[in-house]
Order: sequence, then structure tokens, then C-alpha cells
Amino acid sequence: MKIIFLGPPGSGKGTYASRLSPILNVPHISTGDILRENVKRETELGRTASEYMEKGKLVPDKIIISMIKERISQEDCRNGFILDGFPRTINQAKELDRITEIDAVINLAVPEDIIIKRLTARRVCEKCGAIYNILTLKPKEEGICDRCGGRLIQRKDDTEEVIKKRLEVYKETAKPIIEFYENKKKLYDIEINQADASVEEGVERILKVLKSLNEQ
Ligand code: AP5
Repeated sequence: MKIIFLGPPGSGKGTYASRLSPILNVPHISTGDILRENVKRETELGRTASEYMEKGKLVPDKIIISMIKERISQEDCRNGFILDGFPRTINQAKELDRITEIDAVINLAVPEDIIIKRLTARRVCEKCGAIYNILTLKPKEEGICDRCGGRLIQRKDDTEEVIKKRLEVYKETAKPIIEFYENKKKLYDIEINQADASVEEGVERILKVLKSLNEQ
């Protein structure tokens, strides 16, 4: 299955994609993670991208599109993939459409106040990228990743100021992408309105949508 997770920052794209990837047996491809890995390794791409990421702005389409083309042409994507954080502009959506056909677009909607609470409390493993939350998804040992023992850190763009900018960018760019997939009848909305909604509940709801597609 070729699946896209759309949704504002903090809507749970990475959390759900990382849970569903082993269940569906397809790779979880996060453009944000690929960019952060390049920033960490101080590659040319990383140096260019960090200028945009730290301000909460989108990295230029040209860079992102060639990055994703290269990634989805790899062998492990033969049976499908989950895209998290791509497409982010209508241009990216159209380019993707030229390369491959998508089966489902899961459109996550979460109220803004919940998003800000979630993101300021998010911690990620600097080694394996696993996502935690100091309010709702704590590691067994404070500051340490359950999965690999790596150190948990706060993302540079998870300050309130940058989160607000990222939300603003999302509002400016999301509508045409949503309409694009709505017109193709590929869009499935998942709304989460309670602050204490569990990750498992979200995963179940998404799986139900995907199962119904397989039965069609
Ligand atoms: P990216 O890394 O894609 O960030 P984002 O879209 O802003 O999304 P986040 O990773 O912040 O949130 P998420 O929806 O994955 O939420 P999460 O699962 O972590 O992009 C970063 C930057 O890279 C961009 O600003 C841009 O500069 C650049 N970039 C990336 N892709 C690009 C592209 N295609 N084009 C141009 N530029 C691009 O969950 C959030 C928190 O909520 C976690 O702590 C989680 O534990 C918690 N949580 C609490 N309850 C729940 C629940 N019920 N379900 C899920 N999570 C929950």
C-alpha cells in the first residue's frame, strides 16, 4: 500500500506512521527525519535545509522532490510506503502523482491548543528518532529511549514561536493538497478532538480505514 499522512505539525503523523510501518510491512518515510539526519551529518543538503527548518519554513520543492524521488525508487519501497511530511505543497503533490499512484491519504485533524501542548512536550531519541511525550508518552526511564537507550532531546523547531510559524505555513499550504486528493477520492479524514486520546485509538481508526479499502 502507498499511503500518505497529511496533517498539521503535531497531529501524530510520525507517531502513527512508525506504529503502522511494521504492521503493514512497508517503510515509514519521513522527509523531516531525512532532513534532520542530513543536518546532523552536516551534509550540504543539511546545511541548506537547517536555514529553513529552524525558522519553521518549508525547504524548497526542488530539494525535497529529488530527495523523495530517490528514496521511493529504492528496493524496500517496491510493495509500498508510508509518506510522513510529504507532500507539503501542491507542486510536490503533482510531482508525486507523476511518479506513482497513491492508495490512500490519511488526513489528520487535531485542534491547535492540543497541538501546541503536544509539541512543546515532545521528545525524540537523537539516535533512532523514536517519538515520546513527557506528558502522554513517557519513556520507562526519564530522558532515555526505551528502544535503543539513546538520549531524548527536544527538536530545535519545537519552541512555541517556531511551532506557531509551522502552523501558519501549514494553513497557507494545506488546502489545495487536501482538495487535490479529495478530487481523486483518496482522502480519509481522521479527527482527534480530545487531548487525552490514546495513540492506540488513533492507530485502530487508521487501520479500520485501510482495511475497508482492501475489502473494496
Ligand atoms: P516534519 O518533521 O515533517 O514536522 P511537522 O510536519 O511539523 O510534523 P511533526 O513531526 O512536528 O509532527 P507529527 O505530525 O509527526 O507529530 P508526532 O507524531 O511527532 O518537518 C520539519 C521541517 O522539515 C518542516 O518545518 C520543514 O522545514 C521541513 N520539511 C519536512 N518535509 C518537508 C517537505 N515535504 N517540504 C518542505 N519542507 C519540509 O506527534 C507529536 C507529539 O504528540 C508526540 O510527542 C506524540 O507522542 C504526541 N501525542 C500525544 N497524543 C498523541 C496521539 N493520540 N496520537 C499521536 N501522537 C500523540
